[in-house]
Amino acid sequence: MLRLLTAGESHGKLLQATLDGFPAGLSIDTDFINAELKRRQGGYGRGGRQKLETDVVDVQTGVWQGVTLGGPITLAVANSDYKLERLKELERPRPGHGDLTGAIKYLGSIRGVLERASARETTVRVAAGALCHQLLRQFGVNVFGFVTRLEQIATTPRTGSLDELRALRDASPMYTLDPEADAAIVARVDQATEQGDTLGGIVEVRVFNLPFGLGSHAQWDRKLDGMLAQAVMSIQAIKGVEIGLGFEASHRPGSKVHDDIGYDVDLADTPALGYVRGTNNAGGLEAGMTNGQPLVVRAAMKPISTLRKPLDSINLKTKEAERAAYERSDVCALAACSVIVENVVAQTVAAAFIDKFGGDSLVEMQARYELFHDMARQR
Ligand SMILES: Cc1cc2nc3c(=O)[nH]c(=O)nc-3n(C[C@H](O)[C@H](O)[C@H](O)COP(=O)(O)O)c2cc1C
Repeated sequence: MLRLLTAGESHGKLLQATLDGFPAGLSIDTDFINAELKRRQGGYGRGGRQKLETDVVDVQTGVWQGVTLGGPITLAVANSDYKLERLKELERPRPGHGDLTGAIKYLGSIRGVLERASARETTVRVAAGALCHQLLRQFGVNVFGFVTRLEQIATTPRTGSLDELRALRDASPMYTLDPEADAAIVARVDQATEQGDTLGGIVEVRVFNLPFGLGSHAQWDRKLDGMLAQAVMSIQAIKGVEIGLGFEASHRPGSKVHDDIGYDVDLADTPALGYVRGTNNAGGLEAGMTNGQPLVVRAAMKPISTLRKPLDSINLKTKEAERAAYERSDVCALAACSVIVENVVAQTVAAAFIDKFGGDSLVEMQARYELFHDMARQR
């Protein structure tokens, strides 16, 4: 069982993730983890803090001579602008944050809530996900995330090989697959910045080359769609999660939703075992199990809660009406969000992989993967 816990405050000394149950025997690539951390800090519309910091991972436990040992792996990212002890309490809770509710729930300070609720926490979720990416790649599985929509501006994602799509995304200021939409997206972010407003949108993650049978129909908490929804929904500012057609499926008759099943013997040796589907509206999951098709997960991000032109609030001391507090903030963090959702999906899929093929060592997982592939081909 792969488990992840994170710790740390936004302006504390560091953020830390502990990944327990990760198999032994994987040679890890810290440059790849750092590259994902860098992507998380990028994208058009970010606030000043991203320019101050360059996140770098420190692998503190669970690895010897660059190879995982099977024990808990601790990943740390230091905050170069550590100043928690010097920061003041806030008195005017910001709508859209946990400020008001958290201060009441914990009978404590707004600062104590916002420091932990902050999306800075996702730094180490990305680091852990980047490690999981590396495990999945041993099985030919690739996880790829991008932005599909900013507020009212929908994009038309280009098609192509994974390398082509990656090059397209990495050249886009908002990590889209539609260079023609990027100018309008940048202009809309500039406009919102000028107006003191903020923006959200939709991100999509696709996972390629998955075998049949990750997750299970047998119990509610082993269904992979449910696990993905929980993990993705737990990301700060995510307000909706879809698999495949998602909400659109409810607008169509069954004949326009469900994916016909066919067979192509030439594909019998692929993870899809030769089974082909007319469409992939199910997004790679049926009855909580992967069905050999690409997994497709989408997530809706609300606009950033902290506005430069603050909303109405109350001073908690005086109970008088005042404007909400303002702390340096992003106007749009959608590109970063696509990196976070990608890595959270990678971690969730890796957990399902370990569940199905065993988690002690990579070589044992590989042997069990091959055995399952051979047995499933006979089915
Ligand atoms: C990558 C990313 C960056 C974010 N940056 C900010 C920010 O600069 N300012 C802000 O007010 N909220 C930001 N948020 C959103 C808040 O963290 C989030 O809305 C808040 O913690 C309340 O949680 P909830 O929206 O899930 O209810 C960001 C979210 C993500 C995913």
